[in-house]
Amino acid sequence: MNQNESIVILDFGSQYSQLIARRIRECGVFSKIVPFNIPAGELRDMRPSGIILSGGPASVYSKNAPVCDKKIFSLGIPILGICYGFQLLVHMLGGKVERSKSREYGRAELRSGTANAFLDGVSSLTTVWMSHGDKVLRLPDGFKPIAGTDNTEFAAAENSSTRTIGIQFHPEVAHTPEGIKMLRNFCLRTCGASGSWTMSSFIKKSIPEIRGKARDRNVILGLSGGVDSSVAAALIHKAIGRRLRPIFVNNGLLRKDEEKRVVEVFARNMKMPLKYVDASKRFLDRLKGVSDPERKRKIIGREFVKVFDAEAAKIRNAGFLAQGTTYPDVIESIPIGGNPSAMIKSHHNVGGLPKRMKLKLLEPLAQLFKDEVREVGRQLGLPDEIIMRQPFPGPGLGVRVVGEVRREYLDILKNADSIVVEEMKKSGLYYKTWQTFAVLLPVKTVGVMGDERTYDNVVALRAVDSSDGMTADWVRVPYDLLAKIANRIINEVDGVNRVVFDITSKPPGTIEWE
Ligand code: XMP
Repeated sequence: MNQNESIVILDFGSQYSQLIARRIRECGVFSKIVPFNIPAGELRDMRPSGIILSGGPASVYSKNAPVCDKKIFSLGIPILGICYGFQLLVHMLGGKVERSKSREYGRAELRSGTANAFLDGVSSLTTVWMSHGDKVLRLPDGFKPIAGTDNTEFAAAENSSTRTIGIQFHPEVAHTPEGIKMLRNFCLRTCGASGSWTMSSFIKKSIPEIRGKARDRNVILGLSGGVDSSVAAALIHKAIGRRLRPIFVNNGLLRKDEEKRVVEVFARNMKMPLKYVDASKRFLDRLKGVSDPERKRKIIGREFVKVFDAEAAKIRNAGFLAQGTTYPDVIESIPIGGNPSAMIKSHHNVGGLPKRMKLKLLEPLAQLFKDEVREVGRQLGLPDEIIMRQPFPGPGLGVRVVGEVRREYLDILKNADSIVVEEMKKSGLYYKTWQTFAVLLPVKTVGVMGDERTYDNVVALRAVDSSDGMTADWVRVPYDLLAKIANRIINEVDGVNRVVFDITSKPPGTIEWE
């Protein structure tokens, strides 16, 4: 693999910037998102194969319109402007953009005539997705239109001598079915990239990097059993073997048999020197009598740090703390129209550990998107049970037992939840759903079972679809499946006589109940 090969995306605030980055990687080229106002010199030093100017909500005529460094147009690097990116390059290079109050939003038919590398292999009439207000009226000198729609003759244009392309539509979205072909043509033909970025090349490149960094020091890692920390562990373990020291804390708030599964996969099968710490009693003692959700979270977080820190301090020659940070956690973004001071999302470190023990951070997945992390895990031999699992909150079942967390409530919830997971898996819905779980409501209601009156707790079922957890829609789980899950919970789990299904989306609800 050519390790320097990359496409850099200048982010003008498009909701699709991450999607563009992912699509470019699907074309086999590493991609990186940077703030729109990156200086041209910095961009040149990155030596990208190509540059993409993303879309964005602004008009080139608005007061705080985000503008890139004009010198990037003379770096000699191929450029693709998408939507706002197209309008901006037209505006900055001497063409004309017409201000418009109305928006063109939705599908359009793109017509192309003459042969062109960017549209090679694309049907002469193809559907594209439009979402823009302003419109290109006149192209800058040197540009020629390469495709049009009923609404504009400049749906796509190119300056072949500077290898600069502009398109009004969004090739990255699924509503532009041949968009991936265009992006591939841009990467491989216009930019001349080799297209050799794959997860096996990533693993090959990462291993010597991790070895070079760690040298003879040990690396501590907080293994949660979630996808990111599991894959980070597998990758680091492949690089430095038993010098990786994963710590797994059982806080008593894990799903049924989770601790057994984690020990089996990592200690037994992968032969990692896993430190398993059963701190469940300590957590449950601290949670006694506490029903306020925020206090519960704080207690759980604080205890975790204490337990983890104490275990980590026992590890000799520790030089690094590894984390499963992924690319969406570290993308720099600049609030468009606001104060353009760079805003970097901070990700939480474990307690005060790195500073106190003078540990450096090791984040081998920080360049990867979730689907790439999963692929790395798969190639390193982690089972689907681990790499395809749904997100699980750090405070665990502590936020799924509403109110006070008691051991007897946890036992009920674990059993109910495992039925939900089992049935959702059997139906094939589990892996298609963002999260599926049970919540225990310590509310007693009356029921009848046989001839007897019962007075027991309520379990709520929650199933939501989401792409990032920020917004979510409840999943239309088939009635028959709901019936089966409810029946099994009431028949098999002592202490539950009623099951309800949560049909609240986010917003206005949250995914978790607390
Ligand atoms: P909410 O309930 O805020 O959850 O809609 C959004 C997503 O975040 C997860 N979540 C957490 N994850 N620590 C975590 O690691 C937490 O304290 C936490 N709280 C919520 C939740 O499961 C959902 O995916």
